[in-house]
Amino acid sequence: MRLLLVSLWALGLAARVGATDTGGPSHRYAAPLHVECMNRSSETGEHIQNERQEIQWIPFPTCAETDRPLEFHYGVEGSQNCTIPSVSDAFFHLLEFYIHSDAPLSCRLPARPRAQVDILNEPQPAQEYIPLVFALAGTLQLSHLHVSTRMNVLLHTTPKRRIRAHDTGVLDSGVAYSTSTLDESASVKLIIGDPLPLRFSVRWFPTPELPSTDGTVMWQGMGGHVYASTVVYVVLSFLAGAVVAGAWFYGKVLPERLRGRGLGGATPLGAGVGGNGVGNGWGYSKRID
Ligand SMILES: *[C@@H]1O[C@H](CO)[C@@H](O)[C@H](O)[C@H]1NC(C)=O
Ligand SMILES: *[C@@H]1O[C@H](CO)[C@@H](O)[C@H](O)[C@H]1NC(C)=O
Repeated sequence: MRLLLVSLWALGLAARVGATDTGGPSHRYAAPLHVECMNRSSETGEHIQNERQEIQWIPFPTCAETDRPLEFHYGVEGSQNCTIPSVSDAFFHLLEFYIHSDAPLSCRLPARPRAQVDILNEPQPAQEYIPLVFALAGTLQLSHLHVSTRMNVLLHTTPKRRIRAHDTGVLDSGVAYSTSTLDESASVKLIIGDPLPLRFSVRWFPTPELPSTDGTVMWQGMGGHVYASTVVYVVLSFLAGAVVAGAWFYGKVLPERLRGRGLGGATPLGAGVGGNGVGNGWGYSKRID
């Protein structure tokens, strides 16, 4: 069986070589990848654009652990903590949008390091990015938020022939999502001024594909083992949650919010929320499976 898997893997590799890397620099193993996110209005949740209609990207909030904005490291798996020391009023309102999926916590990572070529009169090649959405789960209460702070981060690289275990590479895609969303002990109760302790568990995949080998679900990533069924499950639930939440938002929350604004709702989500409606509305449409 093992021999069969190895030959399948070798076949797959052979098929992929040459079909991928388009040139340009690659990230070194463990190179820092700075997370940048869309700047958003804390009033409306809409992204902010400059005068040229370009989205404004700002660093992810600074983590108390490192005293730097959040960064991941190319190819490095494991757990990583990022405690935002004190949630500001504006950030708290943004968290309400994120948790409600009214606005995504849309971030990005550099696909490659910035090109260092300096050819006279030639414009620098544009930096390429991959999107990284943080699907933050939680519930809204009238006076506070519950935020599920344990998050998985899955990052894929483009396929390439790896010569060394910790080879260089280019990012392909990624996603981050809260886990243990029904587990109170994995969430924090948050009011303005509180710290937000985010706990990331980071895994890397050496191709864009989800792990499955000819129906066999166990698969070796860059580090440990994962089970394909788990990854497929979380990705599908995430997508299902996003679709349901989107439909619900545009069908119900947005109209209610618009009405609420006219009536001068106290918080962005004050109108139409009620004490219990919301908690059951989004938290767990995600679990229909
Ligand atoms: C984000 O946009 C707001 C509103 O335009 C601005 O006040 C704020 O400084 C921006 N944030 C950063 C980090 O540039
Ligand atoms: C992250 O914080 C938790 C406590 O919340 C701690 O147990 C864990 O060791 C920390 N992990 C790292 C990598 O610092």
